[in-house]
Amino acid sequence: MDVHKIAVIPGDGVGPEVIREGVRVLEEAARLDGGFRFEFTWFPWGCGYYLKHGRMMEEDGISRLEKFDAIYLGAVGYPGVPDHISLWDLLLTIRKSFDQYVNLRPITLLKGAPCPLKDVRREDIDMLFVRENSEGEYAGSGSWLFKGKPNEVVIQDGVFSRTGCERIIRYAFELARKRKKSLTSISKANALNYSMVFWDQIFEEVSREYPDVETHSYLVDAASMLMVKDPRRFEIVVTSNLFGDILTDLGAAIAGGMGLAAGANLNPERIYPSMFEPIHGSAPDIAGQGKANPLAAIWSASQMLDFFGHEEMGSRVLSAIEAVLEEGSVLTPDLGGTATTSQTADQIGRASCRE
Ligand code: NAD
Ligand code: IPM
Ligand code: MN
Repeated sequence: MDVHKIAVIPGDGVGPEVIREGVRVLEEAARLDGGFRFEFTWFPWGCGYYLKHGRMMEEDGISRLEKFDAIYLGAVGYPGVPDHISLWDLLLTIRKSFDQYVNLRPITLLKGAPCPLKDVRREDIDMLFVRENSEGEYAGSGSWLFKGKPNEVVIQDGVFSRTGCERIIRYAFELARKRKKSLTSISKANALNYSMVFWDQIFEEVSREYPDVETHSYLVDAASMLMVKDPRRFEIVVTSNLFGDILTDLGAAIAGGMGLAAGANLNPERIYPSMFEPIHGSAPDIAGQGKANPLAAIWSASQMLDFFGHEEMGSRVLSAIEAVLEEGSVLTPDLGGTATTSQTADQIGRASCRE
């Protein structure tokens, strides 16, 4: 029997609340399938750990994680620890150390999910964001000069390498070709006269290898307007790290909210473990109250099933999410319901058994 070794990092705030439920769903999926099982190892890292030990994870954390087949993460960051420390020393360190350069974020309006836009049909919102996840504005390159002095200067570089741009753009083209969808690149070459001119040039170069793929290219300001006004234009979308971060929260807002937004950080070569996590944060405003929506974490778990080649179980979990949304009686407050996190997950369990 296939055994998948998973490192579980529940993290902070609502992270542990939603991850617990996602793990239950994964166990249930393995039981229903019968051909594989999971072995979960839990790591207590995060802001609570930092306040006790002065670090976000153990010193050998990365080499311990390397032995796993995948990582399942809740959320990182909590008031009391500066965000740039908590995120850089845990989440971003993992993405970078394991070269998880693809961040796949589906923005799909599921049946039964609420949409704040007028005159939009469900089928009109069906995008897949391919966010560059290793460099750009997140490269961590820059300097802070004359700190605290009147002539203080900070510089945050955007780092765009040929290798980095080519591999993410090529990955997106391959997906578009495989799924017979159009590919849209989102950039900002009118203002960012080095990085985004380079990005557009590489998009153009790589596109010549894929004459069968329909392409579009938008400036990020116009793209955010169009995602709201005419979302059906977007199918597969490729964009840089920071733009992808911002646009996928916008995407979440038009496709059911943060409680439904899932993501996968992939190392496509499978040299290192990939990481699956909801795209929302630790939601300190609702943490500890049983109000967190577990569906984003559960959808990320279904992406993990797909990644391991259990696509049938992956789509079964996704259909269960859709069934629970459509049925509508057991939903968390963000979706207008009164159910708790675990009641919602129980309902997913029941729906996947019925599939
Ligand atoms: P957030 O995503 O935590 O919350 C934004 C809003 O969405 C809040 O109103 C919250 O209640 C709601 N929300 C989020 N997840 C929800 C869920 N599962 N169910 C229902 N409602 C949900 O963003 P924020 O408030 O900007 O950030 C809080 C902390 O999380 C910060 O420390 C931030 O750096 C961190 N963060 C971490 C990650 C991550 O670990 N991947 C992602 C984003 C933010
Ligand atoms: C996300 C988050 C992270 C990011 C933060 C917490 C560093 O917002 O995964 O969307 O910007 O990538
Ligand atoms: Mn984000």
